[in-house]
Amino acid sequence: MIDDLKQLNESALNKLKELNSIDEILNLKIEYLGKKGHLTSVLRNMSKVSKEMRPEIGKVANEVKKSVEASIDAAVETIKDADKNKSLSEKLIDVTLPGRRGQLGRLHPITAVIEEIKDTFQRFGFEIEEGPEIETDYYNFEALNIPKDHPARDMQDTFYISKDQVLRTHTSPVQIRTFEKQDPPVKIIAPGRVYRCDSDVTHSPMFHQVEGFLVDTDVTFGDLKGILVAFIHQMFGDKIGVRFRPSYFPFTEPSAEVDMQCVICMGKGCRVCSKTGWLEILGCGMINPALFEYVKYDTEKYTGFAFGMGVERIAMLKYQINDIRLLFENNMRFLRQF
Ligand code: PHE
Repeated sequence: MIDDLKQLNESALNKLKELNSIDEILNLKIEYLGKKGHLTSVLRNMSKVSKEMRPEIGKVANEVKKSVEASIDAAVETIKDADKNKSLSEKLIDVTLPGRRGQLGRLHPITAVIEEIKDTFQRFGFEIEEGPEIETDYYNFEALNIPKDHPARDMQDTFYISKDQVLRTHTSPVQIRTFEKQDPPVKIIAPGRVYRCDSDVTHSPMFHQVEGFLVDTDVTFGDLKGILVAFIHQMFGDKIGVRFRPSYFPFTEPSAEVDMQCVICMGKGCRVCSKTGWLEILGCGMINPALFEYVKYDTEKYTGFAFGMGVERIAMLKYQINDIRLLFENNMRFLRQF
């Protein structure tokens, strides 16, 4: 029987050498060591062996079992290693190749200008507020002292959504919304999109404004002037001249428009400033006390100023862009210049 066992061992190892797939090897394992395998059938003859010999045969049987198992396990490992190496060498990676760089994003000039305006006013102590782009007639007109049939409604070509809802034509409604929820002192900058039915080289039906307003005790036109001149000098350099021209807005009294010296010709007169040397960049004024009546602010105690500027206009002057539509076409070759 010992000879049988040794022969079994040898034949298993010989067969194993011929095999080169894991499936075949596992079948071999069943064939030799499985419940109905060769080893079991040899050991079935144990009953014919004398009692004294049995321990010896048991020992040899165990050794054979272990030896066959070990060889099988080793053969399986060898095949697994070979597979791994093969797949690694097929997917050859050149670790010395430089990596592929992700494309760097950049800010759109409009975003960059809004950020710069916000930064400047935040340094002056203003806080940021936003309002909805779909506005009611009340906030966009009524509470800003523009009653129905007021000629000022024709100044702005309004997109109506319904009888009572509009796409806001300016950021001024944020004044009313803020006053309703906050008592003075208020010191706010409100950037956002606005809409007017108008389109040519200098007008886009959607554009951006930044509203600013400050309400407190003892606010004067001098404060307004000081803040706006400081702001324009921050944005365009302090060599630029600034002038205030009387104007009219229903929500401010007195009202003014602010011009700055043309950044293209430095005041000499060119095509951009229509030979005047000046460019209009914003509207402003002392907040009309009529607004305070709507929001129940004490008109004896508080005064305030407000201003509103067009972001596209400022971006066009700052980056010397001559057609507003370039800002909305999203041509990457154009946008990458800034
Ligand atoms: N809302 C005005 C406009 O869109 C600008 C403005 C804002 C004027 C605040 C005065 C005060 O033209």
